[in-house]
Amino acid sequence: MISDIISNGINGKPNIPGDKSISHRSIIIPSISNGPCEIKNILRSEDVLHTLNAFKEMGVEIIEKEKKIIVNGKGLNSLNKPKKVIYLGNSGTSARLLSGLLSAQKFKSVLTGDKSLSSRPMKRIADPLTEMNAKIFTNNGTLPLSIESSNLMPRSINLKIPSAQIKSGLLLAALNIKGETTISENKVTRDHTEIMLQSFGANIEIKKIDNNKIIKIVGQKELFPKNIYIPNDLSSSAFFIVSALINKNSHITLKNINNNPTRNGIILALKKMGGKIIISNERTSNNEKVCDIDVFSSNLNGCEFGPEFADLMIDEYPILAVAACFANSPSIFRGLKELRVKESDRLNLILLNLQKCGVNCISKEDDLFINPSKNYVIKDNSIQTDFDHRIAMAFSIMGTKLGPLIINDSESINTSFPNFKNELNKLGGKIF
Ligand code: S3P
Repeated sequence: MISDIISNGINGKPNIPGDKSISHRSIIIPSISNGPCEIKNILRSEDVLHTLNAFKEMGVEIIEKEKKIIVNGKGLNSLNKPKKVIYLGNSGTSARLLSGLLSAQKFKSVLTGDKSLSSRPMKRIADPLTEMNAKIFTNNGTLPLSIESSNLMPRSINLKIPSAQIKSGLLLAALNIKGETTISENKVTRDHTEIMLQSFGANIEIKKIDNNKIIKIVGQKELFPKNIYIPNDLSSSAFFIVSALINKNSHITLKNINNNPTRNGIILALKKMGGKIIISNERTSNNEKVCDIDVFSSNLNGCEFGPEFADLMIDEYPILAVAACFANSPSIFRGLKELRVKESDRLNLILLNLQKCGVNCISKEDDLFINPSKNYVIKDNSIQTDFDHRIAMAFSIMGTKLGPLIINDSESINTSFPNFKNELNKLGGKIF
């Protein structure tokens, strides 16, 4: 895919797809609830379809209509042993969440994925599950994961790595454990699982003491069915937001965007840089915060962002780095360790590709330093993405200012935002 310079800004109202994190959970939780759930605005991307197919393989009736899916949950213990290995493609969320859920089932299962997912760390979920008495075996810390039936025990687990995927995997396991499981975290991670479990009537109690969040869940209580309307994805919106900020003569309006405070660091960060971003129509839908967002061309300032931002926007650093290249002063992003174990080593790829674009930037340990310039001289316009969707989309936006950039292996974008190219072109982008 090639992304070229645009001249007349980015203008209009893009169709942003449903939130990816909430879409996964809107298949998993209804599948083990006790009755039919109608899910609207689900993201139909490769990652989410892998979760959907996994549950179909375990016998859940999921009816797919044009504008909604209907998941016919039959209760906490209604899943069947899958007839084959469950293949999860590129989806880390599916792998971590299903590890927990399947550890508490009365059958054996095996999880696999593509090359990238197969190199990502799985001990981080297998270890706390083992503490809960699960029989879960990794292949030297990675996929395939082999999970055997066992009697899980209620435990008190302190999350060592701040990760919503690990927390969610443990919560899903706890749903089937007799007694009270306690999970505590001392860093913020996205809380979509807790929000959804509460609304499905799980026996869950959440307390915040200083920086500690303690989640108690008493298992073996059936979940009641609920309909869900999934808000649009802020992480997918971020590419459009930055493209409007850095290109002159731009104004876009994004509707119905998830504005969950455990996840909206990108809005806080871009506003801190001086971005003209107006949030309106704030409301709540299925207990998730939702809003509309207007974005205008802006003169951005460089900023220093501490590790507390990483907790609230870990997926948005590739596009924040692009924004920082067009600010009028340097930026520092600190505490990006987790970026190294995403769909690619994102810290490394941000650095490599910015340097190809002629940007003066370095990383020291887990911090990234970007020193922007008024004129960039491209050294190599062939962008290496290692099949990482967010690197591909972020550098497509870089292309709107510096193009033509060749975005290699851009089919990865289908994992989260299949219509990205058309939506950007509709607003004035030049991607072909
Ligand atoms: C996700 C959690 C985050 C995020 C990922 C989606 C989720 O991962 O990076 O894209 O849906 O729970 P970690 O839990 O590894 O931080």
